[in-house]
Amino acid sequence: MSNTIAIVDSRNGKQADLPIVSGALGDPAIDIAKLNKELGLFTYDPGFVSTCSTKSAITFIDGDQGVLLYRGYPIDQLAQHSSFLEVAYLLIHGDLPGPAQKTEFEHHVTHHTMIHEGLKLFMNGFHYNAHPMAMMVGIAGSLAAFYHDSLDPEDPQHRMITAIRLIAKMPTLAAACYKHSVGQPYVYPKNNLDYCSRFLDMMFGVPAEPYEVNPIAAKALDLLFILHADHEQNASTSTVRLVGSTGANPIACIAAGIAALWGPAHGGANEAVLKMLNEIGDKSNVARAVERAKDKNDNFRLMGFGHRVYKNFDPRAKIIREMCHKVLNELGIHDPLLDVAMALEEVALKDDYFVERKLYPNVDFYSGIIYKALKIPVEMFTVMFAIARTAGWIAHWLEQNAAGDVKIGRPRQIYVGPKSRDYVPLAQR
Ligand code: ACO
Repeated sequence: MSNTIAIVDSRNGKQADLPIVSGALGDPAIDIAKLNKELGLFTYDPGFVSTCSTKSAITFIDGDQGVLLYRGYPIDQLAQHSSFLEVAYLLIHGDLPGPAQKTEFEHHVTHHTMIHEGLKLFMNGFHYNAHPMAMMVGIAGSLAAFYHDSLDPEDPQHRMITAIRLIAKMPTLAAACYKHSVGQPYVYPKNNLDYCSRFLDMMFGVPAEPYEVNPIAAKALDLLFILHADHEQNASTSTVRLVGSTGANPIACIAAGIAALWGPAHGGANEAVLKMLNEIGDKSNVARAVERAKDKNDNFRLMGFGHRVYKNFDPRAKIIREMCHKVLNELGIHDPLLDVAMALEEVALKDDYFVERKLYPNVDFYSGIIYKALKIPVEMFTVMFAIARTAGWIAHWLEQNAAGDVKIGRPRQIYVGPKSRDYVPLAQR
């Protein structure tokens, strides 16, 4: 089989033979790097629907089959047997850690969880009702100001210490944002707790009384973090890589990733799902919501439905759906929103509009209900996603920089503005 593809410009008969690039799994791609030189043409692909931006060995998705692999391991196996920190190690290093590596990695992360006291002064500048994601974008980016001497993307030691710092400090920053919004003192990270229990303690502990972390809540959170840890070249990861391609420091790259995650079409969807379920309010209103979502004159969409890549069930949604029932049962919570969500899922999955467009519940459809059961406020949902995705972002940034030949990301455009025209002095306009 030929490993090139001939592109013929039918306007003038000119031909370019372009290489076909194949990966270990997934559809092959046409390498178009020489296209412009050979045919004087660019490619046009808004939203990067058919464009691979990079080669990567971290995560594989088969959207038609509903497959998600981290470094080759199926997500359901990791969800069942692994822990978030082990998954973070896997994403960063490429293999599961041995016992000593696991202990060492957990030790490093645990011992970098504190944040500089000076950061509290930054936090105090925020209004009490600032959105936590607004605080996160700012405060995560400002970390760079405290570690200026260890941010060289070309230095492997700098890269690794920053990776550890980011994974370690993100929960501390997130909890501080929450504490600021409720006017409570920040709780210092406790090194005797595991990653998720420590975060819950920083969120809900107060100096006035003891706080005991519910192990069911910590386990549920750990599972959610595993499911959200990476998703190949999604919008926020691509943002991290694009910013990284300029040689910007890793903390600036992650802050950019947090900003990209904030949008409701991406990480903001879990917050939007809960708002939508609240608005629907009752099972009796589900049919009306589905009709609205189908109406092209109404910009209402079913949040938590649809995915750019999954055109079959999102494998993470399957795990989360099961977990949602389990966690609510174990915590003894009956949440009427879960009834609304299940009714909505049932109606939408049978509806031709959703069936034809292959719109299935995505990872965020149920995650909000679990976060709510864990008493995480709705405004914090995307922040939770950011904590988990930091592992993936940093793994991609490390992969990009370890390769050594980082090429600045610089897409082209089809210019549709005015052709050249002369400046008109103000008095003549
Ligand atoms: N509700 C109703 N209709 C939808 C929905 C939805 N949630 N999602 C897609 N559609 C329809 C579109 O109107 C379009 O219909 P048409 O072909 O008749 O014009 C068709 O399905 C294809 O939709 P696109 O917007 O072209 O699909 P795209 O791949 O660009 O968008 C996205 C994917 C952004 C996730 C979209 O499905 C969406 O907005 N979903 C709701 C938001 C959401 O849940 N986001 C979380 C994504 S997962 C994550 O980031 C963790």
